[in-house]
Amino acid sequence: MTRLDVARDVPALRAAVARLGRVALVPTMGALHPGHLALVREARRRADAVVASIFVNPLQFDAGADLARYPRDEAADLAQLEAAGCALAWLPEPSAMYPPGFATAVEVPPLAARWEGEHRPGHFRGVATVCCKLFTQVAPALAVFGEKDWQQLQVVRRMARDLDLPLEVVGHPTVREADGLAMSSRNRFLSAEERASAAALPLALREAASLLADGRPAAPALAAAGARLRAAGMGTDYLALVDGATLEPLGRAQPGARLLAAARLGSVRLLDNWAV
Ligand code: PAF
Repeated sequence: MTRLDVARDVPALRAAVARLGRVALVPTMGALHPGHLALVREARRRADAVVASIFVNPLQFDAGADLARYPRDEAADLAQLEAAGCALAWLPEPSAMYPPGFATAVEVPPLAARWEGEHRPGHFRGVATVCCKLFTQVAPALAVFGEKDWQQLQVVRRMARDLDLPLEVVGHPTVREADGLAMSSRNRFLSAEERASAAALPLALREAASLLADGRPAAPALAAAGARLRAAGMGTDYLALVDGATLEPLGRAQPGARLLAAARLGSVRLLDNWAV
């Protein structure tokens, strides 16, 4: 098994990365689950060594309460990273990432304004800023992101392209539980009853994708999906058919179209998306 090295400040990170050859980065906020470990395995296939960052990024949380309750388990995370063959864990303190006086922000307005951006103002500014910092700190040849956060993947990809950052941003298919629910660190906050209902989200998306692939317009397919979610006790923040790259809404399916959804179940927000 590869021994996992841990860096907690930028000089230690740079010294460790210099020993690793061609590196792939897997950015995370910890509370790792099999979805994250699939990203590490994908990263290992594509590079000499994998660096995983664990940083609960305060800039991307809109409510302090959500930041405070974000699950943290460093020892379990490090054990899982080592078992998955990760070479280096990058665990910066918030004060190392954002020292006093930190004043720079990265924004990608056309991709960040809608959907999650409307419901979580400033969220993607925080994501783009921290990813830009992680990319310049680690200098990886590629970075692997889960497709579960589809909008995040598009924002980060555009940011890297616009800023000529010399890395490839790779998306990895969403890892799902046996009943189809997308794996997420937040699923642990679902009660047993809510957990059972949550499977309605991927089911609604799969059914809508099949209607759309048959040539049905978006409006009735989305209305049927919304009704299924309501029947399962979920409210929807958005449920939309979009162009997968620009995230602009579509009236009908076209190549590269994607269904995007955010649903509320009890106190938990569930995000998912589906290729059409
Ligand atoms: O998807 C996440 O866990 C975070 O948004 C990321 C990409 C690690 C940035 O903080």
